[in-house]
Amino acid sequence: MRDESGAVIRLEDYRPTDYLIDRAELDIRLARHATRILAKLHLRANPAGRPAAPLVLDGDELRLVSLAIDDVPAAPEAFEASPERLVIHAPPAQPFTLTIETEINPTANTKLMGLYRSGSAYCTQCEAEGFRRITYFLDRPDVLSVFTTRIEADRDEAPVLLGNGNPVAAGDAGGGRHFAIWHDPFPKPCYLFAIVGGRLDKVADRFTTMSGRAVEVAVYVEPGKAEDATYALDALKRSMAWDERVFGREYDLDVFNVVAVSDFNMGAMENKGLNIFNDKYVLASPETATDADYANIEAIIAHEYFHNWTGNRITCRDWFQLCLKEGLTVFRDQEFSADERSRAVKRIADVRVLRAQQFAEDSGPLAHPVRPRQYREINNFYTATVYEKGAEVIRMLKTLIGDDAFRRGMDLYFDRYDGTAATIEEFLACFAEASGRDLGHFAQWYEQAGTPTVNARGHYDAEAKTYRLALTQATPPTPGQPEKSPQLIPISLGLVGQSGAEIALSPAATAGHMPGVFVLDGPSATLTFTHVPERPVPSLLRGFSAPVRLEIDLEEDDLLVLFRHDSDPFNQWQSAQTVATRAILRAVGAGTPPVPDRRMADALRHFLAMRAGSDPAFAAQVLALPTEADIAREIGHDVDPDAVHRARRLVKVEIGAALAAELAELYGKLSTQEPYAPDAAGAGRRALRNACLDLFAAGLPAEGEELAMRQFRGADNMTDRFAALGVLSHLPGTARETALGEFAERFRGNALVLDKWFSLQAMIPEPETLERVRGLMRHPAFSMGNPNRVRSLIGSFAMANLTQFNRPDGAGYDFLADTVIALDARNPQVAARLLTAFRTWKMLEPARRAEAEKALRRVADTPGLSPDVADISGRSLS
Ligand code: ARG
Ligand code: ZN
Repeated sequence: MRDESGAVIRLEDYRPTDYLIDRAELDIRLARHATRILAKLHLRANPAGRPAAPLVLDGDELRLVSLAIDDVPAAPEAFEASPERLVIHAPPAQPFTLTIETEINPTANTKLMGLYRSGSAYCTQCEAEGFRRITYFLDRPDVLSVFTTRIEADRDEAPVLLGNGNPVAAGDAGGGRHFAIWHDPFPKPCYLFAIVGGRLDKVADRFTTMSGRAVEVAVYVEPGKAEDATYALDALKRSMAWDERVFGREYDLDVFNVVAVSDFNMGAMENKGLNIFNDKYVLASPETATDADYANIEAIIAHEYFHNWTGNRITCRDWFQLCLKEGLTVFRDQEFSADERSRAVKRIADVRVLRAQQFAEDSGPLAHPVRPRQYREINNFYTATVYEKGAEVIRMLKTLIGDDAFRRGMDLYFDRYDGTAATIEEFLACFAEASGRDLGHFAQWYEQAGTPTVNARGHYDAEAKTYRLALTQATPPTPGQPEKSPQLIPISLGLVGQSGAEIALSPAATAGHMPGVFVLDGPSATLTFTHVPERPVPSLLRGFSAPVRLEIDLEEDDLLVLFRHDSDPFNQWQSAQTVATRAILRAVGAGTPPVPDRRMADALRHFLAMRAGSDPAFAAQVLALPTEADIAREIGHDVDPDAVHRARRLVKVEIGAALAAELAELYGKLSTQEPYAPDAAGAGRRALRNACLDLFAAGLPAEGEELAMRQFRGADNMTDRFAALGVLSHLPGTARETALGEFAERFRGNALVLDKWFSLQAMIPEPETLERVRGLMRHPAFSMGNPNRVRSLIGSFAMANLTQFNRPDGAGYDFLADTVIALDARNPQVAARLLTAFRTWKMLEPARRAEAEKALRRVADTPGLSPDVADISGRSLS
């Protein structure tokens, strides 16, 4: 346990280190139980630090073997070493070297931070504070060093030895051992350090950069899986080309390696020249990966590659600035996927994720600003707010200053801060300079937590031909921020006539900003449009131009006008979602099916006839109803998850039944046999066909079951097979159990596919599910030691099964509490992440709220908790 556990770290306390480490030469001798690290650090006093201060290096569970200062063994009174710290009382005044030898046990490292073993390979994860588990260091992002790394291992056990930077030497080390030396010429913080050693296969290629340099690119995987890495390699090359084309950023080393490992706490990691990935985001074949898996692989490969400039060449001054690299890099990967696939569909998918994850976080006890001001455990701040809302802030910036100024600002940022550890203020100053705009108020998006609500009320004066739009905004209180100020909210908007024509905006309405964008920067504003020939329907927040909740007094008929005619595809989709949301909310209130609303079914029928053929991916998004969690957030307080589930089900059944004929026909039309390819067009057709199957089965369960079973057995790809299994999983009976059995049998031994199988069963909205989940924990393919297994089975149950996690008897909460407590001893990071399933507990009805609180309190009161779980349980209860 780290001894600063419980201490609060504050942004305002930042000060530079007293020493700098210009160079780090590491010699790592890999061995399963006793790996030795010899680190020669070249230090000097930091001109910005305190003179003649003691040198305090960070450690975590380290054992010091030997220490020399300027190559002379250090006298015992010259230093003090503990597992967490190495203090040199009076370092030399001139630049000096420290030679530190430590010993660690990678096999015993179940936290998967620092150097650990995954399968038969050695690998590392150092962000945020894992490097201190390898050797003593100034483990913080503002200490940049040039690393040279010698790795030695048994040739048999680890024929492949990879490090950061470029390979400079390799050879025999005697006694069955061999070595490789890697040199990274770019100064970097130690969180970007990585090594890998193991028996691995690879797929490799060559990428020629825009200035004509050849780069060896390779993806390393477990033996026998190289073929499943070809899509990832292709995505990597496309990412490299895109970053040159769109941001002018060229790759800077001779090699770029990606390694897939099966035990990984997060998605992936951008170590310089040596990205390490959760294999879930690398391995794919048509038989084992869905279209969604392929899209994730593409996005995460791009994300980690893009970090080379936004994160590595320019890093963060301190961990409070995490969004400087993460929000920006998410924005970049979103844009990449939008360019490679459908921009409209990508935006809808991203907003779905934002609302499901970030809005949920922002409305509960774990809410925090995009740039937090304090933390106890930084690993708990790799959140949807830092990542997804962080990306929305960059998107708003681009909307506000326009594409050209945005690109100039980025160029200036790369130019000015290359090779440094920067702050949000420095980043924003580049855009202020490039655009000539004052971004002072805009910067508040980094400081103020909570999701603003924008309320809009429209009034048309037929006589004067004017349309008045009254806008107000308010942000609810969040922990530590009881009073909120108005945010600066870019509202992209248009007016749509009853027959669908776009009404020209009188110029005054959005004067001073980008065309079609009104900037709401106070508590309220009234917009007056003149020369409006007919009563318009306002289309607000086009493209979801700001991460806010929009309340607008539109009638169903007006929403349907937008659904049919809006030139903005996001708002087309949004208006259909709003109509469906209202129908479900009415059903929650009534407890019975609402009076069937013909208009919605008619509009969907018309829409499918017009658009299903030309834009299937978009049509699939339209057919997907808001989730139970969406509805729960809409209700906001005293939520009864069972009532939400019943109401949503009723509406789905009603729509499915009303459209059964059209859905069946469309399903048939989309069933033409074409060989599977993971491209966007094919994925769109499969998405729509599977959305049809899902709705059809809700309306006509018996026929749906038969159709789904046929698709399940006949599919030649995982997308269709798994979608069919998903439909079956919601139909209780023997067909479901048969299909689940066949699936497990077919994919026996394939851990990543069985994760899907675990997750699907954990999401069944029936009271027997908790017992099923307990049973699956004893399945031979399950292991509490593997984060992917834990997340697919227990994570899916807690995060994606609203009715069963929130069972009225509290058994779901107790189960999660027990699991988190047990897991905490082994892997605190994954345990803490699992516990965030309670992030919305305060919006439940009182009986469930009491049960949830009891379970949370039991976790919080457990002795010996990690700082990770102590922090989440503590904040959740506050
Ligand atoms: N920087 C990684 C990314 O690309 C995430 C690493 C998070 N690691 C952690 N231990 N919290 O998003
Ligand atoms: Zn990242």
